[in-house]
Amino acid sequence: MKYGFFDDANKEYVITSPKTPFPWINYLGNKDFFGLISNTAGGYTFYKDAKFRRLTRYRYNNVPVDMGGRYYYLKDEDCTWNPTFKPCQTELDSYECRHGLSYSRFLSSKNGLSSNLLCFIPLDYMGEVHLLKLKNESNQTKKVKLFSFAEWCLWNAEDDMTNFQRNLSTGEVEVEGSALYHKTEYKERRNHYAFFSVNTKINGFDTDRESFIGMHNGFDKPQAVENGKATDSIAHGWSPIASHYIEVELKAGEEKEFVFVLGYVENKDEEKWASKGIINKTKAKAMMAQFDTTQKVEAAFANLQNYWSNLLDKFQLDSQESELNRMVSIWNQYQCMVTFNMSRSASFFESGIGRGMGFRDSNQDIIGFVHQIPEQARERILDIAATQFEDGGCYHQYQPLTKMGNHALGGDFNDDPLWLILSVSSYIKETGDFAILDEMVPFDNDESKAQSLFTHLKVSFSHVINNLGPHQLPLIGRADWNDCLNLNCFSTNPNESFQTTGNKKGRTAESIMIAGLFVVYGKEFIKLCKQIGKREEAQEASLHVKAMEKSVKEHAWDGEWFLRAYDYYGKKVGSNENKEGKIFIESQGWCTMAEIGKEEGLMKKSLDSVKERLDTPYGIVLNNPAFTEYKIEYGEISTYPAGYKENAGIFCHNNPWVIIGETLLGRGDQAWDYFRKICPSYLEEISDLHKVEPYVYCQMVAGKDAFKPGEGKNSWLTGTASWNFYTISQYILGIQPDYDGLKIDPCIPSDWKEYSVRRQFRGAMYEIKVLNPSGINKGIKSIELDGKALNGNILPILTSGTHQVKVILG
Ligand code: GLC
Ligand code: GLC
Repeated sequence: MKYGFFDDANKEYVITSPKTPFPWINYLGNKDFFGLISNTAGGYTFYKDAKFRRLTRYRYNNVPVDMGGRYYYLKDEDCTWNPTFKPCQTELDSYECRHGLSYSRFLSSKNGLSSNLLCFIPLDYMGEVHLLKLKNESNQTKKVKLFSFAEWCLWNAEDDMTNFQRNLSTGEVEVEGSALYHKTEYKERRNHYAFFSVNTKINGFDTDRESFIGMHNGFDKPQAVENGKATDSIAHGWSPIASHYIEVELKAGEEKEFVFVLGYVENKDEEKWASKGIINKTKAKAMMAQFDTTQKVEAAFANLQNYWSNLLDKFQLDSQESELNRMVSIWNQYQCMVTFNMSRSASFFESGIGRGMGFRDSNQDIIGFVHQIPEQARERILDIAATQFEDGGCYHQYQPLTKMGNHALGGDFNDDPLWLILSVSSYIKETGDFAILDEMVPFDNDESKAQSLFTHLKVSFSHVINNLGPHQLPLIGRADWNDCLNLNCFSTNPNESFQTTGNKKGRTAESIMIAGLFVVYGKEFIKLCKQIGKREEAQEASLHVKAMEKSVKEHAWDGEWFLRAYDYYGKKVGSNENKEGKIFIESQGWCTMAEIGKEEGLMKKSLDSVKERLDTPYGIVLNNPAFTEYKIEYGEISTYPAGYKENAGIFCHNNPWVIIGETLLGRGDQAWDYFRKICPSYLEEISDLHKVEPYVYCQMVAGKDAFKPGEGKNSWLTGTASWNFYTISQYILGIQPDYDGLKIDPCIPSDWKEYSVRRQFRGAMYEIKVLNPSGINKGIKSIELDGKALNGNILPILTSGTHQVKVILG
């Protein structure tokens, strides 16, 4: 069943029923100021850090789910309703939520009154703008009472939810004209306040939650709205809110427009006050003046749309598959930008207070957005690298506001360092900016320990070699990419985190996934060294890579597939010998991406085993058979019920690794079959089962052993976004940025006749048409560039202009 449709021309997903199987959300904001907004306007807004600078309050795990947001109430005679359906849940005569690129628009109507609410954060603006248009579609004059509503969060979202004994006494507000200010703690250590304003005269307001809602009511029945009048309350402690009350008279056919701004202001210490106790509102007023008319809002909205068109224009696909076109050209690229901004911090599954930016996560995210905003990718790479230690290890996470490594979590996730080679090499291939390698970057955030970024890559590489186990395979540490395979953890205490507990300190548990990863990025490191003339480094590194390939063949081949690991006791993990968890996806993915044992047929056997044992109608599961008992020597993976998360769930993030493996074998039909199964736009029809948004990838889909196979969870913030964009664009469509040009090497389903890609690369636009007259998967017969035959399959760097490329497979 569907709950909406894709409007490709407007780059929107249009939700036609507010009762989606789960809140279907969108993100507002592109830099520094952000909002999460559901299809019923739930969510919150924050400056930079969803934990420390949250403007509005949100209660996760609410009943009903998704209550609390920016709300407008319309009281039209006896009927009270919201343009966003919630919180009143009054049945509407019509409802549409159009989630677009960094904006959401709600179109609804009831009893001849229609509402059009546009929510977005203008570029370079520290506030959410809400343009509300109300129109009387009836033939009689209407007198409508409009109430706005936002509940302030006392800034630190975690403290806000825990330290009530203090917080219930600290809330402070100010009201001036039509602007409601939130200034809790501004008197002491904060230099920031928030405001909620509207560009019209108001008839009243409330700033105290209890006065507005009533002690015993919910958001769906605020007392003030029921009474049809605001109370002009001033909050003293308790729970400060901001609500405007406006009486709106609309003649038949008349429309009125209101611009609301939910803004954030920082003042220098010496400029905090206008007079004793009265905040300096100069900046807030300037922000309000920026958007005091509908025209100004619409101009900023047009700018935002242009911004996105320009970004997306860098990669556009036209193929016979409309579901694929919209993912590649619009939604997947959009999701990559959102994961760039949020990492794994704030979604409807991530509370915004628990996690910072992951070292491995953020490095992997780079490959999804580097073609769109290379300058920001550069900055991000340098920030991440600064949280590395001198021995190549690194903090597992860092905080976005301070950019400092997170001590509480620490390091020792032994795959982490290698992802830096992925991000840096991808960045240089995209931009040609080798100078980044000479940037001096601190170790452990300490400037006095700065070394070149190249040195950081070198120590990333050597960190693996310096940490080999008994089979000359990489030690896993606390975990590798699979956070839940905790081979040194041995936890019996339910209050311990599996990620931070290491009750055993052995040097035996080895990861074959890291071995594969090392071969892939070791080769990448060698290639990079050669590019910059570091022959000796390249030569030495290649000895290590060869040795690793040898160790994998000798100690990590199980007969039909690659082992997953050796545990603390030196026993095989992911072997046919095991009762549960006989085979795992990660090592098949990485060892086949590394093409280990290609000639001997290992690669093909491994991928055939994936097909046989891990494939399902909804994607490839992580391991099989699922664990049904807690295995203390394996850790968190065996805690999840069978079929969920890392215990045999379909982790969409790692499916692309197998897909890339398939393309390297030239099996385009199989690669495509896997790709399509997890691609959300193809799941739109089963939205009632899939549950989460059909326009973005989710982290996990329940596997075949689960109660409800095919049910998705953890949408939006996942490495799935970047890996799938990388896989479809570079390995299936076969357009690969490289040091010397744009390499063309498609591997497609045999029934694709042709497709075209517009790809901007190093200043030039390449319009690439790929024809497949003989219906094959892979192999190039000829390439023409601007009408002339090209030798080889690398389009040269042309730096400007638009160029026509014709590729014939055969
Ligand atoms: C989550 C984490 C990621 C990890 C993955 C598998 O997506 O963000 O770091 O690799 O789970 O455990
Ligand atoms: C949990 C999640 C996993 C995540 C990890 C780190 O184990 O299942 O996906 O990566 O926590 O926070």
